[in-house]
Amino acid sequence: MSTTGKTSLRFSGSPQVFMAILLTAFLTGMAAAQTDPGPRDGTAGAGGPVANLNTAQSALFANALNVFKEVDSVSGTIAGEPGVGLGPGFNANSCAMCHAEPAVGGSSPGLTSRLHPVPNPQVALATLDGATNVVPSFITAYGPVREARFISTDTTDIRNPLNGGVADLYSIKGRTDAPGCNLAQPDFAGAVANNNVIFRIPTPTFGLGFVEATPDATLAANLAANASQKAALGISGRLNHSGNDGTVTKFGWKAQNKSLLVFAGEAYNVEQGVSNENFTNERNAVAGCVFNSNPEDRIQDDGGASDVMNFAITMRLLAAPVPAAPTASTTNGSNLFNSIGCVQCHTATLTAGPSPFTAINNATYHPFSDFAIHHMGSQLTDGTHQGDAEPDEFRTAPLWGVGQRLFFMHDGRATNLLQAIAAHTGGNGCFTNQDFDQFTVNGANFQPFESIQVCVSEADKTVSNFNALSASQKQDVLNFLRSL
Ligand code: HEC
Ligand code: HEC
Repeated sequence: MSTTGKTSLRFSGSPQVFMAILLTAFLTGMAAAQTDPGPRDGTAGAGGPVANLNTAQSALFANALNVFKEVDSVSGTIAGEPGVGLGPGFNANSCAMCHAEPAVGGSSPGLTSRLHPVPNPQVALATLDGATNVVPSFITAYGPVREARFISTDTTDIRNPLNGGVADLYSIKGRTDAPGCNLAQPDFAGAVANNNVIFRIPTPTFGLGFVEATPDATLAANLAANASQKAALGISGRLNHSGNDGTVTKFGWKAQNKSLLVFAGEAYNVEQGVSNENFTNERNAVAGCVFNSNPEDRIQDDGGASDVMNFAITMRLLAAPVPAAPTASTTNGSNLFNSIGCVQCHTATLTAGPSPFTAINNATYHPFSDFAIHHMGSQLTDGTHQGDAEPDEFRTAPLWGVGQRLFFMHDGRATNLLQAIAAHTGGNGCFTNQDFDQFTVNGANFQPFESIQVCVSEADKTVSNFNALSASQKQDVLNFLRSL
């Protein structure tokens, strides 16, 4: 700091520049406390395909990426919106509307992007093509794109049974391509007033081909590794599983989804309202609002791929984000990230299994996630069960590409990395989760009963370690995260 000050005293340029230098020196002096440097400038370093695709595979990716960007209208009749099947309920009209930053396939766009600042597109979407939707209070120009879930089935009496499903933000009512449809929006104002609504923001889809190709046994071995260090930090965790075939599920904030194709099918139906080969029935199929036969997206009559297959291929072949070149600060930050325990959940390196794609085949990659779910305590709990995941269990968010993300944590509650780290702590409250069943099978009475009391977050000790670092060490950790 003093060096900068001395240099500025010798400065012989214009008074404005002199003042600017003094101001810089002053602000740098103020920055004794650590700050999130914000989303990284420069190129996106993401959005292209994995290396070494052959000619046919390159063409497959290029075509599939266009389908990922395709904009839907109700029957594909509106200029510039050629996709078929939007609604009756929807949250967006293309995968790329939400998976946008820092390139198509990524996470929520936003005004703080240095590459392409844009307001939340869900605001303008409310009234696109004549629709008459009211923008819910939790969707703002400055905030992230969001989907909403209701915790209880009854917004006015939240002691009712759990719901957990996605409530679509918007209806096609009023759109020029949905004459006669009268579907109302869900009662979001009521749900907000009764604390019955939780949110999810988009996770990026870069590099997911590596994750998909990783054997269950690799994830299990990784979770079992470093047992004594994990135990000392209070870290355990478990893998989520598919109720259908018992294998590991690893996609989504609670690792609730099996595969990229399943996720694509679910997203197409839930986010855009397009029925498809995975999810063949319309949601919100009220009379007067169903305009197409089902499934709206399907394998074409000439055998051409369906949209959901193209979405899965896009995500399978999107390359992993490219980190920035290391500096002395980021290297120190990386070492601290390991020594204070962040890496015990945010696993730096995993190895994919055999894959037909050369770049993925048995390749090591750097997701900074164990793809396991962890108890995160009473601050983050969202009241929702998905697969084995309990209300406060979340998948370790993969940190590759975090250097260019604008919003953090499952509901987008944090807009900078210090808030994100602080949000890992369990808070003061405890809560009890109980499951009780009673039934007779084979003449025997079964009464399975499960009760877990959660008071802390598995990340509490690691976050205390972070808090005990010096300001410059914390800064190195933040700089490291922004280099990913
Ligand atoms: C309205 C915004 C929105 C749209 C449109 C959208 N998504 Fe998403 N996406 C999300 C959210 C929110 C999540 C996190 C969901 C969760 O875990 O509950 C997500 C997560 C995902 C994931 C999980 C990635 C991971 O890290 O495990 C995949 C895969 C995905 N979306 C694919 C798609 C595809 C394909 C489309 C187009 C059919 C699509 N999404 C459209 C919001 C959206
Ligand atoms: C017990 C496992 C665990 C430990 C230890 C842990 N994290 Fe996390 N981390 C998570 C989980 C789970 C999430 C997602 C939680 C949510 O969204 O509700 C997350 C989210 C994040 C995010 C936000 C990413 C995004 O895309 O929103 C950042 C940044 C992060 N962690 C950094 C750190 C740092 C730095 C440390 C060490 C100080 C650390 N984490 C320690 C489990 C852990």
